[in-house]
Amino acid sequence: MRNPRNIVKPLAIGAPTPPLEIPVRPSRMIHFFDPSNERMAIKVPDIAKKVDILLGNLEDAIEVKNKAAAREGFVKIANATDFGSTQLWTRVNSLDSPWFLDDVMTIMAEAGDKLDVLMVPKVEGPWDIHYVDQLLAQLEAKHGVQKPILVHAILETALGVANVEEIAKASPRMQGMSLGPADLAASRRMKTTRVGGGHPGYLVREDPPGGDVDAPRAIAQQDLWHYTMARMVDACAATGILPFYGPFGDIKDAVACEDQFRNAFLMGCVGAWSLHPGQIDIARRVFSPPPDEVAWAVRVIDEMGDGSGTVMIDGKMQDDATVKQCKVMVELAKLIAERDEDMAKAYGMA
Ligand code: GLV
Ligand code: MG
Repeated sequence: MRNPRNIVKPLAIGAPTPPLEIPVRPSRMIHFFDPSNERMAIKVPDIAKKVDILLGNLEDAIEVKNKAAAREGFVKIANATDFGSTQLWTRVNSLDSPWFLDDVMTIMAEAGDKLDVLMVPKVEGPWDIHYVDQLLAQLEAKHGVQKPILVHAILETALGVANVEEIAKASPRMQGMSLGPADLAASRRMKTTRVGGGHPGYLVREDPPGGDVDAPRAIAQQDLWHYTMARMVDACAATGILPFYGPFGDIKDAVACEDQFRNAFLMGCVGAWSLHPGQIDIARRVFSPPPDEVAWAVRVIDEMGDGSGTVMIDGKMQDDATVKQCKVMVELAKLIAERDEDMAKAYGMA
């Protein structure tokens, strides 16, 4: 049991008060970079202008010999760069690794005031979040960090999925969650070696025409991630935090990447990871509501007046519920328009 009156009180004396509401900011792409790679580090100030979230990756994809360099590189970049309104996140190593503690201690001591969100991989249950929550409060207090650091969990183990609701509500610091299809596939013993996306073997097939089992039949690939995404979106929406699709590994298959991202957008996700500069524009396009839908939503809201009753618009029934759906679209468009001039023009909100 937790005392409900203490839920949004600091967990350490001198730490900032955790937020009552998670701020909703444009978060269409979490762009990953390797802080140990000097060639990439040089590009950070330019990339920061093009993305909603920039994330220094310390975990998987960083070679063991570069773990310390990535941590130090992140601190250096965090302090040397003006990120403007772009969010700065880091993905630290997992809680069972030999690097997690040094990652968090170093970053909080040396760049705590620059960091918005700590992404924690391989979260298995609320106990992981409780530990990170207490540790962050202690380090915020110790280093005089003014703004509470938020926590983002990667949903990438079978146990994590089984505990998804408990993880979502484990702390007021919980900012959101990303689906991690690669680790999750391994943890579940799924038989795919891809990073996200569909699989040609996971399909449904049309019935035999006229009972002829040898006749050609249409097939349609299904989305391997639908079940997990749906659980994650519900857990996040129910607790006021933000769901994200994670990585799409086939960098050259921009079309399938866009499809996977759009499925996530339609189901309620706010963004996805970009692992390559080519995926930034895909995420930007997909996670900004389409201008024609925004125009339609504005029209429905206008014609519905006080929002009650029903009206027919172009043969489509509108009522209180459709006004709420339309408000989701318009509010997101307004938020994005404040940050993205091209989208502001496309929405007529410039
Ligand atoms: C991401 O970390 C994944 O495992 O898919
Ligand atoms: Mg992973």
